[in-house]
Amino acid sequence: MDFTLSDEQRQLQQLARDFARKEIMPVAAEYDQKEELPWQVVEKAFEVGLLNAAIPEHAGGLGLGMVDECLIGEELAYGCMGIYTILMASELGITPILVGGTEEQQKRFLTPLTEKPSLAAFALSEPNNGSDAAGMHTTAVLDGDEWVINGTKMWISNGGVAEITVVFATTDKQGGHKATVALVVPKDAPGFSWNKIKHKMGQRASLTSELVFENVRVPRANQLGGLGDGFKIAMKTLDKTRIPVAAGSVGLARRALDESVKYAKEREAFGKPISTFQAIQFKLAEMAMGIETGRLMYQKAAWLVDQGQPHGFESAIAKAYCSDMAFDAANEAIQVHGGYGYVGEYPVEKLLRDVKLNQIYEGTNEIQRVVISRNLLK
Ligand code: CAA
Ligand code: FAD
Repeated sequence: MDFTLSDEQRQLQQLARDFARKEIMPVAAEYDQKEELPWQVVEKAFEVGLLNAAIPEHAGGLGLGMVDECLIGEELAYGCMGIYTILMASELGITPILVGGTEEQQKRFLTPLTEKPSLAAFALSEPNNGSDAAGMHTTAVLDGDEWVINGTKMWISNGGVAEITVVFATTDKQGGHKATVALVVPKDAPGFSWNKIKHKMGQRASLTSELVFENVRVPRANQLGGLGDGFKIAMKTLDKTRIPVAAGSVGLARRALDESVKYAKEREAFGKPISTFQAIQFKLAEMAMGIETGRLMYQKAAWLVDQGQPHGFESAIAKAYCSDMAFDAANEAIQVHGGYGYVGEYPVEKLLRDVKLNQIYEGTNEIQRVVISRNLLK
């Protein structure tokens, strides 16, 4: 077994690490406070090749694999989980097109994203259906050679600013998952509107929106896969894209550890640095144990994707384990900082607000345990 990264992978990791330090960390607190998407970071990520990097070469992209994507993700999330979510959600929006689209569709929808800074989005969740994704209410009705979409999608990252959104809809509300369809909707489609969701707890630099579809028409040629394939395309997508959430969680936990080590060496109590107390040392050790095991798990899941092997079980374990681990790490980082950890002067307060979302989106950690246990019991 060889854990060595290739030269290319180490270069990619360094590129993302430098990008996080130079472009993300200096603006993270500001955009968190403003609750605004830092578009200039998206532009710079595009310039250096870190945006939509999974787009395959035949569609004009770099065609990075899942291990590569996750190496990048860990570094970017170290800088800011919210800003990383902007880029991660765009890769999520691209993935159904890779999973269910023809080569012609991949070229038609993805090549434009390689030509200028642009984002994609993935619209599955609805106001009344998040975990129960197959129970969707958004409808798609065929009218000649066009699909007509009506309904509301909720909590959509990059929603509204994305050039393309993959929308999942039902063709028959009684038909369950077998009546679902995946449709690519361009940003400027008439009848498509959006509202920004404000006052999020964390990850406030990422844009989250409600999407409204009022008789939105898209050509049948924008349908991914066959009629009834929508739900399975969504599930296959999430089996892959939960791994970058795991990688981002490891990056955030690493930041929590680094901030804690630094503070523990500086802060004195009872006449000596708090790093000399075993209670503090053990918190740092626990964080390091979680980071190292979490990284092994996400890398295994990512490697399975790149090998074309089944990966849904490992992906769910990586997502749930790493985000729970990162939540604990951020929580303990605040404890290490004492009262100062509880205010915005130090970055650890933001880490805890940001990481909470990692336990909720891309399927809650309860749903990951549903996926894991179904794999065990089938
Ligand atoms: N791959 C392929 N097919 C799959 C599959 C998978 N991973 N999982 C299920 N299927 C198939 C099943 O085989 C079944 O097909 P057949 O009927 O032909 O046998 C069909 O899909 C239905 O499967 P289930 O009965 O298991 O479906 P379910 O209704 O019980 O739901 C679930 C299963 C795992 C709970 C699923 O609904 C789920 O993952 N829910 C969570 C939704 C989610 O993760 N949302 C994330 C939104 S994106 C986001 O959050 C992004 C962001 O923040 C940036
Ligand atoms: P519910 O499904 O109502 O769940 C409520 C609680 O019940 C949770 O604790 C859940 O785990 C639990 N629960 C539900 N069913 C079960 C069960 N069977 N077993 C055990 N426990 C269960 N969605 C998108 O489609 N695209 C996006 O880009 C996107 N971005 C997001 C960004 C943000 C900031 C947020 C907050 C959400 C985003 N989501 C997105 C939605 C996210 O995926 C859902 O919030 C999530 O899947 C949970 O759905 P829900 O909120 O409806 O909760």
